[in-house]
Amino acid sequence: MKILITGGAGYIGGTAVEIMRGQGHEISILDDCSTGHVDTIPKDVRFVQGSLLNPSEIADALTGTDAVIHFAGKSLVGESVDKPALYYSVNVGGTRNLLDEMYKAGVKKIVFSSSAATYGEPLQIPIPESATTSPTNPYGATKLAVDQMITTESRTRGLAAASLRYFNVAGALHCDRGWLSERHNPETHLIPNILCSSVENPVKIFGSDWPTADGTCIRDYVHVIDLIDAHIKALDSLQNELHEIYNLGSGDGYSVRQVVAAACEAFGHSIATIDSPRRPGDPAVLIADIGKARTGLDWAPTRGIQAMVADTLASFN
Ligand SMILES: NC(=O)c1ccc[n+]([C@@H]2O[C@H](COP(=O)([O-])OP(=O)(O)OC[C@H]3O[C@@H](n4cnc5c(N)ncnc54)[C@H](O)[C@@H]3O)[C@@H](O)[C@H]2O)c1
Repeated sequence: MKILITGGAGYIGGTAVEIMRGQGHEISILDDCSTGHVDTIPKDVRFVQGSLLNPSEIADALTGTDAVIHFAGKSLVGESVDKPALYYSVNVGGTRNLLDEMYKAGVKKIVFSSSAATYGEPLQIPIPESATTSPTNPYGATKLAVDQMITTESRTRGLAAASLRYFNVAGALHCDRGWLSERHNPETHLIPNILCSSVENPVKIFGSDWPTADGTCIRDYVHVIDLIDAHIKALDSLQNELHEIYNLGSGDGYSVRQVVAAACEAFGHSIATIDSPRRPGDPAVLIADIGKARTGLDWAPTRGIQAMVADTLASFN
């Protein structure tokens, strides 16, 4: 299949490029490299360095495409609070441009990177796809707006679509060019931050008085390789005029202290931490109900937190 991967120079998109080209798909990439890295792009894929904000660059990237996997976008919660207009422009406006150019080009299949941030403060744990969506920040609001836009697009223009609501993505992929791993700047994700910490720069634990067993927040982590496997299954499952939404996580939660303990084990030594105040808007527990992905996509995560930490550590060395 000829697949356009938007955001293919980024962490998750780059991993998708590597795995899907390895399976024999013909891959093109559209990325403006605002947070991505051109050095992760294999030489044998077509790369359009362009923006979702420029319809002619999207049209160019779509040439000959059968399907789109849409990772490109802005994804920092804190930045979205400071710069909501940027998030609406790129995530919502940029995806509007992409859907319009897909329609003009007759491309009718899309898999979209949505987020658990669409749910906001959960009323039930684990969180099913039918849970109330009430995002607590502009990032989550833009992801929800795109999910809704895609639902309309599938009804009105026959798009075959899936939105995959990721919980926390972690881990790395080793390939012939080295490790493909998280290189966000600033890095807001727990596992790379733990691995970059030191006695002088201890890991900040935001809140140690949450109503959880050890007092720290609980999150659900999924390995990036398992995540891409779900994208491939979602792509294969697409049906005309249908938009399906699936949660992707492990279905298990790990507290911040449990993730630190897993990292200590991988490192073979202790890791300095410092208890800091809770961050406003942080829910105590976020765990995905992944039953729909298990049955609807015949997907199951296969790599646990130890593999996520070990692969990230290996990618840093
Ligand atoms: N990493 C996670 O834990 C997580 C969780 C939930 C959802 N997501 C979503 O997954 C997707 C990928 O996340 P990531 O962690 O790989 O982030 P990333 O920042 O590494 O990748 C995003 C890519 O999009 C590109 N991009 C940004 N704006 C663009 C524009 N206007 N035009 C073209 N390209 C543009 C960037 O250059 C980058 O390569 C994002 O949509 C993110 O919201 C990630």
